[in-house]
Amino acid sequence: MNNKVTTAIFPVAGLGTRFLPATKSVPKEIMTLVDRPLIQYAIDEARAAGITEFIFVTSRGKGALEDYFDLAPNLEEELRAKGKDDLLHALQDTNMDSGAIAYIRQHKALGLGHAVWCARRLIGDQPFAVILPDDVIAAEKPCLKQMVEAYEETGGNMVAAMEVAPERTSAYGILDVEQSDSNLFEVKGMVEKPPAGQAPSNLAVIGRYILSPSVLRNLDAKSTGAGGEIQLTDAIAADIGTENKVYGYRFSGQRFDCGSKSGFLQATVSFGLSRPELRDDLAGYLKDLVPGLE
Ligand code: G1P
Repeated sequence: MNNKVTTAIFPVAGLGTRFLPATKSVPKEIMTLVDRPLIQYAIDEARAAGITEFIFVTSRGKGALEDYFDLAPNLEEELRAKGKDDLLHALQDTNMDSGAIAYIRQHKALGLGHAVWCARRLIGDQPFAVILPDDVIAAEKPCLKQMVEAYEETGGNMVAAMEVAPERTSAYGILDVEQSDSNLFEVKGMVEKPPAGQAPSNLAVIGRYILSPSVLRNLDAKSTGAGGEIQLTDAIAADIGTENKVYGYRFSGQRFDCGSKSGFLQATVSFGLSRPELRDDLAGYLKDLVPGLE
């Protein structure tokens, strides 16, 4: 088995019902933070971590996502003719090498574990990353790159982890750990969306994973878990106690839950403020809006 992580799965089959009516015709992954779609942030993070093969697990109505990664020769030509080099480069940054992207359909919404399992034939016997584009992480060193570096030491399986408020644990996969005072720690149990009061900790799984192909074999069983869905968390947990240990990695960076409206708005403001050409205008507006803001 080759231990280099060069392939990533992007589960993008979700209906995005929390953003209806927008998501009636626009896949939620195409919704934009400032001027770049959510999926572009995920792709850029993957590329920065050395990923060269991109697998999208899609569903009906996600055609706009495929178009987004196609070339736009007419638009490029027009920008070139008008000398708009900045925009041309922004556009060309979205281009993918021929053959670097594969699209697999998840025909039924049977859960995140099932979505990942749909890509099994393209993965074969190599470790792979999974990126959930809803979780946008702003970090000096991109989160997946931090994890790939840690994974070079550990092998096995690795999940991104972050402390959440105790009352929020039922919305996440939650880790059971012996001790977690360092950034990298071994996981001894994982539970998907534990009922209130039953979480083993408040360390939540965030949507970045580096997984051993054994997880795909665990998913072959198609066992259902929380919410009646085939859960990725359960398939990873099944590796605990085998030679493919499971590690949690507490990343540095700020995570935005762009699967929620509030998180999406926070990310919009934060990414807006981080853009030099927008910062002064936006900050001035926010200060007027919220007196006392520094
Ligand atoms: C998924 C995973 C969950 C994880 C979360 C992170 O849940 O199943 O384990 O904690 O992503 O965002 P979802 O948010 O899709 O319900």
